[in-house]
Amino acid sequence: MIKSNPKINYVVDVLMFICFLITAISGILFLLFPEGRRSGWYQIGGFTKGELKDFHTIFGILMIIFGTIHFLLHWRWIVTMTKSFFKKGEKRFSKRNSEIVKWN
Ligand code: HEM
Repeated sequence: MIKSNPKINYVVDVLMFICFLITAISGILFLLFPEGRRSGWYQIGGFTKGELKDFHTIFGILMIIFGTIHFLLHWRWIVTMTKSFFKKGEKRFSKRNSEIVKWN
C-alpha cells in the first residue's frame, strides 16, 4: 500500500477540507434556495446556479478522490486497529467470563 508521509497526509487533508467546504456550502445553498427566482435560476457571489452546480459536482468528486487517497495512506493503521480491536474484544470477553464465574 502507499507509504504514509506526514507532509503528503497534510496536503491531502487540506485539499480534501477545501473541497468539502466548497461542496458543503454549495449543497446547503441548494437546500436553502431550491427554486431560485421565477425563471428557476439565481446568482450568488456572481455565480449562477448552473455554475454552482458544476462547482458542487467537480469539488464533490475531488473530495471523494482525496478521501480515497486519505483512506489508502492510512491503510496500515486501519489494519492494525482492526486487528487490535478484535484482540481486545477477545480479552474483554474472557475477562467478563471470569467475572461471571466469580459472581456465580
Ligand atoms: C457535502 C455535503 C453535500 C450536500 C449538503 C449536498 C447537497 C446537494 C443538494 C441540495 C443538491 C440538489 C441541488 C438542486 O438540484 O437544487 C445536490 C445535487 C448534487 N450533488 Fe450534492 N451535496 C453534498 C455532497 C455531494 C458530493 C460529495 C457529491 C459528489 C460528486 C455531490 C454531487 C451532486 C450532484 C452530481 C448533484 C446534481 C447536480 C445537478 O443537478 O446538476 N454532492 N447536492
